[in-house]
Amino acid sequence: MEDEKTLDADSVRSRDRAHVWHPLFQHSQLDSQDLLVMSKADGCTITDAEGRTFLDAYAGLWNVNVGYGRSEITRAVYEQLERLPFYPMSQINEPAARLAEQLSEILPGDLKHTFFSNSGSEANETALKIARQYGRQKHPGENRYKVIARYQGYHGFTFGALSATGQLGRRVKFEPLVPGFFHVDPPYCYRCPLKLSYPDCGIACVEEIEELIRREGPETVAAVIAEPIIGGGGVIVPPDEYFPRLRQICDQHGVLLIFDEVITGFGRTGTLFASQHWDVVPDIVTLAKGITSGYLPLAACVVTPEIFESFLGDPDEHRELAQVSTYGGHPACCAAALANIDIILRERLWENAKRVGDYLLRGLQSLGSPFRGEVRGKGLMIGMELVDEEGALLDVERAGRVKSRIREEGVLIGGMSHAVSGPESVLILSPPLILTETEADRIIDAFRSGLAAV
Ligand SMILES: Cc1ncc(COP(=O)(O)O)c(C=O)c1O
Repeated sequence: MEDEKTLDADSVRSRDRAHVWHPLFQHSQLDSQDLLVMSKADGCTITDAEGRTFLDAYAGLWNVNVGYGRSEITRAVYEQLERLPFYPMSQINEPAARLAEQLSEILPGDLKHTFFSNSGSEANETALKIARQYGRQKHPGENRYKVIARYQGYHGFTFGALSATGQLGRRVKFEPLVPGFFHVDPPYCYRCPLKLSYPDCGIACVEEIEELIRREGPETVAAVIAEPIIGGGGVIVPPDEYFPRLRQICDQHGVLLIFDEVITGFGRTGTLFASQHWDVVPDIVTLAKGITSGYLPLAACVVTPEIFESFLGDPDEHRELAQVSTYGGHPACCAAALANIDIILRERLWENAKRVGDYLLRGLQSLGSPFRGEVRGKGLMIGMELVDEEGALLDVERAGRVKSRIREEGVLIGGMSHAVSGPESVLILSPPLILTETEADRIIDAFRSGLAAV
């Protein structure tokens, strides 16, 4: 057996090829498209096993908010593992109790009770199950089980979260999915699915939700679930009126509003939570990714006292939430989250996300190329549409050239994947929130070079 610490990149690759199944990836392409063997990282920079360095302008997978190499988090995890490596949430552990308290303090509004799990998908599963059970407990005699979501939205890969996901390519091979999920048009003004123009449209896409609730019967609808800014579906920022109006619609019909802040939470969009852009408080919020900045897996589903209290009753009423997650609320993961959130709050990283995000957005918007379509986003969550001569999304081949050139320039970015039918030519940026203007300039230069490669 070779010493595992001394494996060179090719040895790692050959083991990987033989045994690892990668997500969203056609393995027959491995010969022409070698994946990078990631080896170490610091700040916004990641180094592969062949010694090449990259600016990680995607923060892993939208999640390394505080950047790499934060020894405060590593130490907190190590100390917790030494003290108490594990005990399930059937009893109490200190980091989970402290973290739930902290979330209740930093989240807007009255979001006070947390159920912990391990991934964004699971946090959304939890939210959907809570919404269905709450609907039945709160409105006896009604059967509120339907869930409304948006096309192009993404909520996870498990069956419930996938049923809420509005991306055909992620769903179609696994259908039929969970019954009771409905989709409406996203607030995608640049290519309005309703062929209208803002503001004359009267935000028809949000009125579509009200119409659907009426048509289905409000007494059958449990919840609307939405990403405040659609991420993997192409960084779609709604008009300012959208969420305040959606809040009104949900209140009017007794429907819960679930915000999936898996990407947008913890400073990414220039506020601590994206709901704060519009002063709208959801009934349930789901959090993952930036909660630990990826140092360990953790997710949270946080609800209002109104919802939590509907689960109280005599034991023989069986109102408790009948689910358990072995690792949800893992003490070391919660210790990582506490240390991570401490950094975010101490360094006020949402402010840097806003300042450098605005700078990056302006820089990208100023790039002169016929292939640059809309550049949009908030804070350090930015998308650039690549367009063809007619303004349609650029074909896969030419968009591929742009992406390859950006990679050759040493910048790693994200993209849409199976999000829409047709070309998915939105380039996605979601770097660590510690990004400097100098690093933003590097990203802008790489995009300039990429656009020239079409
Ligand atoms: C908005 C959103 N919700 C949920 C998820 C699912 O999270 P996970 O991959 O941790 O299950 C993702 C993942 O990218 C996401 O972007």
